[in-house]
Amino acid sequence: MTQIHGIILAAGKGTRMNSSKPKVLQILSDKTLLGHVLTQAQKLCSKVHVVYGFGGDQVRQTINDDSINWVEQVQQLGTGHAVQQAMPSINDDSISLVLYGDVPLIEQSTLNDLITQAQHSGVALLSVVLDNPTGYGRIIRQNNQVQAIVEQKDASDTQLEICEVNTGIMAVDSGLLKTYLNGLDSNNAQGELYLTDIIAMAVDDGKTIASVITDNEFEVAGVNDKVQLAELERTFQQNQATQFMQQGLMLKDPARFDCRGSLSFGQDCEIDVNVVIEGEVTLGDNTTIAPNCVIKNTVIGSNVSILPNSVIEDAVIGNGASIGPFARIRPESNIGENAKVGNFVEVKKSTIGKGSKVSHLSYVGDTTMGDDVNIGAGVITCNYDGANKHQTTIEDGVFVGSDTQLIAPVTIGKNATIGAGSTITKDVPDAQLSLSRSRQTTLKNWQRPVKQ
Ligand code: UD1
Ligand code: CA
Repeated sequence: MTQIHGIILAAGKGTRMNSSKPKVLQILSDKTLLGHVLTQAQKLCSKVHVVYGFGGDQVRQTINDDSINWVEQVQQLGTGHAVQQAMPSINDDSISLVLYGDVPLIEQSTLNDLITQAQHSGVALLSVVLDNPTGYGRIIRQNNQVQAIVEQKDASDTQLEICEVNTGIMAVDSGLLKTYLNGLDSNNAQGELYLTDIIAMAVDDGKTIASVITDNEFEVAGVNDKVQLAELERTFQQNQATQFMQQGLMLKDPARFDCRGSLSFGQDCEIDVNVVIEGEVTLGDNTTIAPNCVIKNTVIGSNVSILPNSVIEDAVIGNGASIGPFARIRPESNIGENAKVGNFVEVKKSTIGKGSKVSHLSYVGDTTMGDDVNIGAGVITCNYDGANKHQTTIEDGVFVGSDTQLIAPVTIGKNATIGAGSTITKDVPDAQLSLSRSRQTTLKNWQRPVKQ
């Protein structure tokens, strides 16, 4: 097996992003642009070299991958010069695969084709046919054989009419590449060392240039500004949505669904519009997510209903549970089977037992709640004393009347009932009614004041 070295060009500044971050650190879905390219490269290459320049420290720190050979290109003297920087650590009898750090959607199968071609012919380039080829290097062919690449600024009027363009991505025998790179000069319109000049050199050397022409414009599209970034984000999301639907997930509108991470699901799950999935999310069978929900790093069981406008993070939701509308489930929460967390309820770092219901307007924090508990409207666990957080324990079968405050630390015994409007500061015994409430009185003969 020939070794494959990935060389990712990432030295450009990306001025048109108008950002303090280098271009390759802009985010697409859940990863940086460079991160996407790295993921693809690392699947195929025994070693990946990243040529960096502008914002180098930031790039290295953000990517934070010790397996990468980071190569600095101090001055950006052209793509040929960029590749030259990586060559000292690449052995001759290998294939060098040149990738761009700002071309994130490149596909595995295309790169495989390119590598296979390079193994046969020594030089293989990836091209694409564009309706508007302006700005790109044109592929010059004679009798269908690639002869050279001519840059826009160096091209003649006839050459400018060619619509087959260089994507910049190529696979080349490393020994040959080194030889050709040594022969580059900057006698061209931009005074740069053009990587593309190696094509004509290889032809002069008697080589036949192999080419792979992709019919997928997006996989070779570079990102220069935020308009293009948004376009590729849409493409990425659309592709992902198509895959999910093919695997059986029902998306009410694939154009209004975003997954920035990974989603796995069982059968007959349905996701309505404007749902955003982040991190790692799992759905069982027959689970539905209503419009406008954001769900992050959460395991959701089967037959669960997530109702509109709910926000869930780092949680586990049991089978048959119902969440929302307008529920907020914060990290480290575990909602039991068939439990209900209803309207305007916030749950933080709490366990809610099987079949328990917190239906309206409550805050449940740092709480362990047993099974079959009923929490009335407006109940608050007062977990914070201004300095420390305290635990609330609510045992099985408890009924807490509406508008009650449970001042933690406090334990409510099994099957206890708490009268509405109570402020509970002491532990409550099992199976009895406890309440703290001033008695209701009625003043006889009281008259309403009358306006004078
Ligand atoms: C290059 C190709 C052109 C091709 C186009 C595709 C050359 C001479 N031209 O054009 O044929 O159609 O890509 O987009 O190769 N980079 C460095 N260091 C440098 C210069 C560039 O790392 O000194 C990196 C950039 O960050 C970028 C990539 O190389 O990721 C391409 O650079 P860019 O300036 O966009 O390419 P062009 O010269 O426009
Ligand atoms: Ca360019």
